[in-house]
Amino acid sequence: MLALFAGTQIAIHMAKVNLLPAGTDTGEMTEARWYDRDEALPGEGGASVFSARDGRISATLLHMDNKGTTRSKNTGGGSMKFAFVGTGMIGSGLAVNAALRGQDVVLYDVAEPETVKGTVGKVLDILVEAGAVDRERADETLSKMSFTKDLAEAVTGADFVQECVPEKLELKHSTYRQIQEICGDSTVIASSTSGMFPSALAEGALYPERIIVGHPYNPSYLLPLIEICGPHAPQETIDRALEAYRAMGKEPVVCRKEVTGFIVNSLSWGVMDGAIDKVLDGVCDVEDVDKAIMYGPGLRMAVTGQLLTMSMGVQGGFREMAEKYGKTAARRPDQIEHYGQIADGVDEEIADRSGAQGRTVEEITKFRDKAFVGLLKLQGKL
Ligand SMILES: NC(=O)c1ccc[n+]([C@@H]2O[C@H](COP(=O)([O-])OP(=O)(O)OC[C@H]3O[C@@H](n4cnc5c(N)ncnc54)[C@H](O)[C@@H]3O)[C@@H](O)[C@H]2O)c1
Repeated sequence: MLALFAGTQIAIHMAKVNLLPAGTDTGEMTEARWYDRDEALPGEGGASVFSARDGRISATLLHMDNKGTTRSKNTGGGSMKFAFVGTGMIGSGLAVNAALRGQDVVLYDVAEPETVKGTVGKVLDILVEAGAVDRERADETLSKMSFTKDLAEAVTGADFVQECVPEKLELKHSTYRQIQEICGDSTVIASSTSGMFPSALAEGALYPERIIVGHPYNPSYLLPLIEICGPHAPQETIDRALEAYRAMGKEPVVCRKEVTGFIVNSLSWGVMDGAIDKVLDGVCDVEDVDKAIMYGPGLRMAVTGQLLTMSMGVQGGFREMAEKYGKTAARRPDQIEHYGQIADGVDEEIADRSGAQGRTVEEITKFRDKAFVGLLKLQGKL
């Protein structure tokens, strides 16, 4: 949480000591105010943080509950402008995320605006049917979204552009050129590409430092994951992308190197290769491979990922693992000497979890078991 809200922690601190930093027009915080618990929701304290970028004021309301959990909520009046360029399966899903978070959303596509509106309407219908939003909110959200076939109208003044055009390098290059001719270097453009490296996307661009990858995971309208990749880009570009995705309600992670499949596809390809091998080697049939994942590690991974899951499986976590199980039990004995680094990372991960997800092994275990009960009930297993 500290890493996620580094800026807001500072804001709260400054507000607590009643400091109002000088205003700026560069996107920095211009004012912060601390609310006492009794001014905010029962049992909570909070702070409002105002910032200005390009003359637009944006306000973020931060709440801190009595466990110290910090949540941020955009107050609506200070929404960011998001442009989604290419609004098929991925673009329409992400646009819905941003719109549901109260952001100012414009969708651009070569298809007719009415057609795109129909696609977005279907995404919202799915969310209503799944119980994620109610009909009234879905209809209101759709009515606030803008649809256009005019690229300049879509991207002018945009804080963030998510490019979701088909996977063709030349098309992506020409799209960036047009956008950057309109926006200059003030707008970050993130590509949804699954397979292209950010350096290749940025090649020949007017402002290569503003082009990165922001890879979503299907179904993009539900899964929070976004992989940001842009080793060539300055930290400021990455930070702005992090801010934009959080404002959309996504959970961004940063892939620091250009690796095929970024983080998550390369991991899941490993599982895919192993799963096919199990069938081809006659170890088990297809159905049992999938059941083995669904009713075992898949459940655990949904709550605590992989490294935290393994750490929780042994008293003392990674630091004790090699000690307890010995070098021969380790999958890769050459990794053992680095377990301390993994253990430090797990400690950080635990501290960064939200209060609701648990910040000690004991709390996480309770949260995990509750989550399993919910998932198993949905799967008809409880
Ligand atoms: N489908 C997936 O599972 C998935 C997952 C992650 C990332 N991605 C990536 O997302 C991107 C989009 O994929 P998709 O599955 O949404 O494709 P899609 O075919 O569903 O949508 C592409 C959209 O782009 C529009 N388009 C075509 N040319 C255009 C142009 N010149 N300007 C503006 N819009 C244009 C099309 O009309 C269409 O609406 C690709 O880069 C893909 O690699 C896809």
